[in-house]
Amino acid sequence: MNNTFVGHVDLFPVAIGKYKNTDHEKTKQSFINVLESYPKDKVYSDGEDLIHFFNDGDFNPRQHPGLESLMDWILDCVGDYAERFLGVKDRKFVDLNTWINSNKGGTQAPHVHNNSFLSATYYIQLNKDHSGLNFYNPRMSPSLRRSTIDIEPDVQTAYTTPYQGVFVEQGDLLIWPSEMLHGYIQPPVEIPRVTMSMNFLPETVSSKLYGFKISKL
Ligand SMILES: [Fe+2]
Repeated sequence: MNNTFVGHVDLFPVAIGKYKNTDHEKTKQSFINVLESYPKDKVYSDGEDLIHFFNDGDFNPRQHPGLESLMDWILDCVGDYAERFLGVKDRKFVDLNTWINSNKGGTQAPHVHNNSFLSATYYIQLNKDHSGLNFYNPRMSPSLRRSTIDIEPDVQTAYTTPYQGVFVEQGDLLIWPSEMLHGYIQPPVEIPRVTMSMNFLPETVSSKLYGFKISKL
């Protein structure tokens, strides 16, 4: 009998949404102004080359010249992602926390963002020497981040790879489900890779039994 493959069904795909700010150059300059005036004693670093600004998640772009409307645009993108991939229309989202990282060489170990539904990163400064973002296959064993049965380690398909990198450019906004394990390795560079990251929850959740509202304390 012949092998008569008649097609396949991809089950439970995960969407990493990508949006582009077409006015990024102005936005970038505004971010540079923010970082230049940031108090030096508030900078947090776990290594000299990976610097965390607003490490408590308390950056509010609405309060900074040139960035007043950036979060409105990001929330529009998050709403669009929810409509495209979650089937939820006209749902508002609450930005929970926002912070900025500047990396001239260092690793963000694989991690997830908890107490959050959707997460996002806006790429403020990125060039060809900078890393994008890796997402780890949720079907792989979390402790090993590799296939439970590694039949042939040198052969990988989209179904068996432990992780996949997403290519980004400066001005891009990535949006993903917060439970996705992600991270990256940035080799040493002269010009820092600068990003702003955020977490979101929907403003209202309405199930068949009950609903509730989210508001920040
Ligand atoms: Fe992260």
